[in-house]
Amino acid sequence: MLAALPTLKLRLSAIIVAAVAVTVGTFYLTLKALKWWPGVCGLLAAGTALLVVWVMSRGTLEPLRDITAASEAIARGEFETRVVATSRDEIGRLASSFNSMAAELAQTDRVRRDLVANVSHELRTPLTSLQAKLENIADGIEQADAETVAVMLSQTERLGRLVKQLLDLSRLEAGTVPLDRREFELRPMLELAARESQLGVASTHIEVAVEPRDLTVDGDAERLHQVVANLVENAQRYSPAGSTIAVGARRVGGAVCIEVADDGPGIAVGETDLVFERFYRSDSARSSRDGGAGLGLSIARWIVDLHGGSIRPEARLPHGCRMVVTLPGVGS
Ligand SMILES: Nc1ncnc2c1ncn2[C@@H]1O[C@H](COP(=O)(O)OP(=O)(O)O)[C@@H](O)[C@H]1O
Ligand SMILES: [Mg+2]
Repeated sequence: MLAALPTLKLRLSAIIVAAVAVTVGTFYLTLKALKWWPGVCGLLAAGTALLVVWVMSRGTLEPLRDITAASEAIARGEFETRVVATSRDEIGRLASSFNSMAAELAQTDRVRRDLVANVSHELRTPLTSLQAKLENIADGIEQADAETVAVMLSQTERLGRLVKQLLDLSRLEAGTVPLDRREFELRPMLELAARESQLGVASTHIEVAVEPRDLTVDGDAERLHQVVANLVENAQRYSPAGSTIAVGARRVGGAVCIEVADDGPGIAVGETDLVFERFYRSDSARSSRDGGAGLGLSIARWIVDLHGGSIRPEARLPHGCRMVVTLPGVGS
């Protein structure tokens, strides 16, 4: 019955009123009707009042005991523990926010476990293949010829890249490296990123177009360079040989848009959000041998978010992907 009262204050008031009524009633009854000695009547009245308070407060305090037990369970790592939140008062609200906190912790714990599993998997694959090659060489089954060494080198490069990306991502997420923001010209940065990406990748051609030519943006040049390098790397990886990758920047309203467009298969509509998740790769990317770990776009999104901007893929016709990074313009 007390559970129907909407606030703790009302419940406590109800308990006090009931206790006082019972005390007065008992005292009056024993003193007047039964003519007991006043000391005994007083003791009896106090006893009944205590009993009433004890019985009535049980329902109110029980959920607090549940919450205490549940927090101890969560402290032990049992993140699936929940409490039953039935009342509408402060304790009921405490119980339901406790449940949301527990759900949040459970989700964080799941993400952490997935991360560890993914990281271990990604590190193990190149390590296993390296180890197999080295064992073959040690046993004399394979020669340490130029081709074998090149394969091993590419595996160690992949490991190095992965470790660097993981470090980057954890630094970005922890916010330990603040942005070094200043106004800078986009064209030299985009051209440098294009030139660097072009090195060693002869199969595609990169074109840079910036309008107006002296377009500037307020941001961390180093970090934005990393975003563009990641986007261009994807464009190179997923677009057909002989195609052209268009890197561009322009002003749109008060904002600045940086785009990287390719003629590859594009990103399916259902995957436009998923591709930014850590370790997410589409099935086709997963099955290709030279695929990355699925961290590039997560890093790009963190950097763009830190700038207060947004990043999204758009489809191109007849096929292809256009990654659009929108950054707040200078002074906006
Ligand atoms: N330009 C693109 N064209 C088609 N798919 C892309 C493109 N860029 C990214 N993707 C998809 O998004 C996924 C995640 O990209 P990313 O985080 O850079 O990881 P990675 O490049 O290591 O696979 C890729 O595996 C791929 O499926
Ligand atoms: Mg990538």
